[in-house]
Amino acid sequence: MRYWLAGTYLLIVIFFFVESLLHPILWLSFVVIGPLTALAAYDFFQTHNNVRRNYPLLGTINELIKRERHIPQEIVLQKSWEGRPFSLLQQRLVKKRADDELTSEPFGTEMDYGAIGHDWLVHSLYPVNEVKDNFRVRVGGPQCRQHYNASILNVAAMSYGSISSNAVRALCKAAKKENFAVNTGEGGISDHHWEPGCDLIWQIGTAYFGCRTQDGRFNSDVFAEQALRPTIKMIEIKISQGAKPGFGAILPASKNTREIANYRQIEPHNDVHSPPNHSEFQTHEELLGFVQRLRDLSDGKPIGIKLCLGQQDEFKELCRVMQQAEIVPDFIAIAGGEGGSGAAALDSIHHVGSPTEESLVFVNKELMEVGLRDHITLFVAGKVISGFDTVRYLALGADACYSARGMMFALGCVQSLKCNKNTCPTGITTMNPARVAGLVVNDKAMKVANYHRNTIEGVRSIMAAAGVSDRSGLNCSLIQRRIDEQTILTLEEVYNQNGI
Ligand SMILES: Cc1cc2nc3c(=O)[nH]c(=O)nc-3n(C[C@H](O)[C@H](O)[C@H](O)COP(=O)(O)O)c2cc1C
Repeated sequence: MRYWLAGTYLLIVIFFFVESLLHPILWLSFVVIGPLTALAAYDFFQTHNNVRRNYPLLGTINELIKRERHIPQEIVLQKSWEGRPFSLLQQRLVKKRADDELTSEPFGTEMDYGAIGHDWLVHSLYPVNEVKDNFRVRVGGPQCRQHYNASILNVAAMSYGSISSNAVRALCKAAKKENFAVNTGEGGISDHHWEPGCDLIWQIGTAYFGCRTQDGRFNSDVFAEQALRPTIKMIEIKISQGAKPGFGAILPASKNTREIANYRQIEPHNDVHSPPNHSEFQTHEELLGFVQRLRDLSDGKPIGIKLCLGQQDEFKELCRVMQQAEIVPDFIAIAGGEGGSGAAALDSIHHVGSPTEESLVFVNKELMEVGLRDHITLFVAGKVISGFDTVRYLALGADACYSARGMMFALGCVQSLKCNKNTCPTGITTMNPARVAGLVVNDKAMKVANYHRNTIEGVRSIMAAAGVSDRSGLNCSLIQRRIDEQTILTLEEVYNQNGI
């Protein structure tokens, strides 16, 4: 019985073979039959996969379905509000904003309004007509000498190497057009970042790509040379990233081209594993010393840290040391455990790192307790797709948001989950030149710019509905959440009850 598919198939092959002797046109059928026969024979004789060996062809079909099941599931089987990491509704929303399409929706929400965890804004009886807010935030504490006026929505860290040259160029051109910033990610700064001339946030990771010595340590001369360039507006020290906190970054060999290796000052065509920790600091005092060193080397530009919250006591202690040392980062970027990645370690992606929302609330509260909140701008990255997502984070204490995957959807991402394989069908997370060419920079730059502008407009309309005319009026009592069938709480009540 095991070999029924292969057996039936063998009979078909024999049938076609015999028929082809009588009708030569049928030899054409061997264009299909040939490779399938080779595959069946391979399955039968190979030794590394028991299912394929026991069920030639059927085993391979089974594997293919398992590997690609998310495609039919997402396109046909799932409801539009289901789907992870992002639902079809979320993807559709980005597409509409990016296409600058009709901003209305028909009939009514497809979301389950009664679902546990569902959030909504409590609007006012008296919406305001005008929101007098420029949606910019001034970054830089007392030690900063070149403050930056950031948009409340910016492109989150994504390295050239995890995303393609055309993707970087499209994001940067859009940023230039709409005046927001692009975070370079930890892979260094490429010409694709420089040429469009947008505001850049330069991220320095544990491997110090783009400013490293031969043995992989921090190179202050190279750093200073780049950091002083005017398009670098801020510098972000990456301590950890939500999808892989405490784990180093991975650049798969297939994506490590000669050009990318050149920017990173590494050997091409190898898997590259960045270390999990920085060689420049191991303690809070050393971390703050490094912040001050980068500030001096960059002539006083805003220096921040990006982290995914882990052990809360460590963060409390860091705040205490900041207070004592009187060295304060100009900004902190919070990334939650549900964050994205080009390639994350299997052991980290599902169960390491605190969620974004709780982390933001905790960090905000701790900074307030030590009296440093006014000096530090809080950025947050964690599934920001819509105007409401942005408003919710602002209400919970963030000053500005980062979006990585929202921006990817605006670039045309279809959530095919192939970012780590160099086979991304959309040309966003592949280095394959033919696929990259499919992503047309000017068209996508326009779409990302539309997405950004329309999302900010979304924020404006939500604030108007809440009767709030500037961001200082946003707070967590404006958002309610269904906790269970009988209970609805404001986010203010949720976090007071949890004691965060
Ligand atoms: C393709 C890709 C590459 C990324 N590269 C980096 C990186 O180089 N450095 C970093 O700190 N985070 C990186 N991230 C994480 C994002 O900056 C962000 O923190 C995370 O995806 C959460 O934001 P999102 O929910 O808007 O995607 C990457 C994410 C993606 C999807």
